[in-house]
Amino acid sequence: MTLYKQGLAFGYVQGTKYHRDRHMRDDLGSIPPTSNFKNYPEAERLQLPEPDLSRPANLWQCLARRRSERDYTTDPLSLQELSKIMWAAQGVTARAGIYLLRTAPSAGALYPFETYLYIDKVEEAPQGIYHFNVADFALERLQEGDFNNALTAASLGQPVVRRAAVVIIWTAMMLRCMVKYRDRAMRYIPMDLGHVCQNVQLAASAMDLGSCSIGAFYDDDINELLGVDGEEETVLYLITVGKLRGR
Ligand SMILES: Cc1cc2nc3c(=O)[nH]c(=O)nc-3n(C[C@H](O)[C@H](O)[C@H](O)COP(=O)(O)O)c2cc1C
Repeated sequence: MTLYKQGLAFGYVQGTKYHRDRHMRDDLGSIPPTSNFKNYPEAERLQLPEPDLSRPANLWQCLARRRSERDYTTDPLSLQELSKIMWAAQGVTARAGIYLLRTAPSAGALYPFETYLYIDKVEEAPQGIYHFNVADFALERLQEGDFNNALTAASLGQPVVRRAAVVIIWTAMMLRCMVKYRDRAMRYIPMDLGHVCQNVQLAASAMDLGSCSIGAFYDDDINELLGVDGEEETVLYLITVGKLRGR
């Protein structure tokens, strides 16, 4: 038990508690403001179709059916299915001043993460690594090609990653959140992404697609695939999506 108290997790949780009578310890110095979005203006764009939200889904059944599914067919997703998945993840549902409010909540409306995708099998979309542009509901292609082996190897060889039609990859944008919440930010970023990921699972459930959250990977291998530095921006969470057998 005493070793637990010497560990990183203990130090972090204790050190980032709010107390009524004193401020949280803060040795960070000044953090310059960062942008609220990343975008890649030079990248080739793939505009996602407007998600068709007209077909109702029963929330209670989606919750009851939600499961981590790891066995997918080789069938591609349609672009409309991908559009609905991305809308569930990070669709803009309202504007409040400079803020673009989304389908999932976020501490301080900062959305301190970026969304990337590896598209393996989606109709009308070339294979490759993409960045999701929230404001424009578009994909920006960072690299074209087959990255299935590289992403699977970076995900500890998990077959679920190999079989996926799409792997969504979220990075934490550390300073975007730390500007406001300082060291407490690392409590909030995973909370934010938990909400986003559950939205994706429920959307997958509504469309009878399979999905599985992935937390086990070699961080810097994935950072390298995305071309991010692994320090101010570092991978935090993945989810696979694919067509289920026999549906
Ligand atoms: C933060 C987190 C990380 C996870 N990482 C993995 C993973 O790397 N590989 C995997 O196959 N499943 C992973 N899972 C899925 C869990 O194994 C799964 O949610 C759990 O067994 C409960 O099953 P259910 O989701 O079907 O209800 C992860 C789930 C969460 C929430």
